[in-house]
Amino acid sequence: MNLESIALHHGYTSEETTKAAAVPIYQTTSFTFDDTQHGADLFDLKVPGNIYTRIMNPTSDVLEQRVAEMEGGIAGLAVASGMAAITYAIQCICDVGSNIVSTSQLYGGSYNLFAHALPRQGIEARLIKHDDFQGFEEAIDENTKAVFCESIGNPAVTLLILRS
Ligand SMILES: Cc1ncc(COP(=O)(O)O)c(C=O)c1O
Repeated sequence: MNLESIALHHGYTSEETTKAAAVPIYQTTSFTFDDTQHGADLFDLKVPGNIYTRIMNPTSDVLEQRVAEMEGGIAGLAVASGMAAITYAIQCICDVGSNIVSTSQLYGGSYNLFAHALPRQGIEARLIKHDDFQGFEEAIDENTKAVFCESIGNPAVTLLILRS
């Protein structure tokens, strides 16, 4: 499928009851269970299904599937803001004693997360000047879980080109 077709159609087929062509917007926090056993099985992750919108929602699910497909990934997670996405991504792969390598010229929210919040959680962010290739190489060690870059840096429009 073309990228444009994936963006428009992936992850949703017109559902049987209404035949709605566009993705329905499910404005619900909670979902019903068939019976107590069904509820228990959902919470035990024994059967797939919706439990609570913050965890999963059928509308967000279509977006997640589409973006994953467009990016060649296997799954996705949609959150409400860029900072939530960055925080989740780093917290998901890092634990106490691990580190990430990034640049010192970053969006302010990311800089504060890396320079102040993550260290309090035992995760070190090694902030290297954006054009110091040698510095990047030297900063990476066996506890490095990610190299975080802004492809066009905010606010200084810095370009970060890392050689492989
Ligand atoms: C480079 C970059 N990263 C992260 C963010 C944070 O995104 P949000 O405001 O959605 O949390 C922004 C917002 O402008 C940004 O420019």
